[in-house]
Amino acid sequence: MPQDKAVSSSAFRVGVLISGRGSNMVALADAVRDGKIPNAEVAVVITDQPNATGLAKANERGIETLVIQRAGRTRQEHDREIVNALHAKKIDLVCLAGYMRVLSSEFLNAFPRRILNIHPSLLPSFPGLNPQAQALEQGARVSGCTVHFVDETLDGGPIVAQREVPIRDDDTIESLSARILIEEHKLYADAVNMVLRDLHED
Ligand code: GRF
Repeated sequence: MPQDKAVSSSAFRVGVLISGRGSNMVALADAVRDGKIPNAEVAVVITDQPNATGLAKANERGIETLVIQRAGRTRQEHDREIVNALHAKKIDLVCLAGYMRVLSSEFLNAFPRRILNIHPSLLPSFPGLNPQAQALEQGARVSGCTVHFVDETLDGGPIVAQREVPIRDDDTIESLSARILIEEHKLYADAVNMVLRDLHED
């Protein structure tokens, strides 16, 4: 069902940025559709990767998609174009969902405390790339996922919500990533719901 049908004109408008398969974007879109994130709409999905497989999943759900490639531009120029698109769509909250670029300060300043990211570890443990592999290499018995506000630090902004996931003796990067991903999908929807509720009360 196209999302707009269930949406009131005063709904919070969420923009999701992806670079790949977009399963967290799908989880957010489906949570909105199913009424688990009330009074919200995923108004646009933006990617820097024209081949991102998540694009088709957004289109199937009737969500507008935009491809804004970096090619031949500085980070500032690229981010400025994305910010302009988000403003044009009147986006209230930006959700990074597997978006593989660091945001410029100009982007951060355009959406103060209105940009969320999801990361597959219990931050501040294992920031950066390959956190599931980091957890296994360190012999951790527990990992999980974190939704946090994005600031100028790497995966270091204020934490909104976290969920633990046990690590098993026979876990591989793939099996651990899959178990964490299941929790990511639930956690991101819950966290967006909390943040939008707070915005509503402001
Ligand atoms: C997720 O594990 C997310 O936590 C990390 O990148 C992955 C993206 O997966 N930031 P998907 O594109 O949402 O399926």
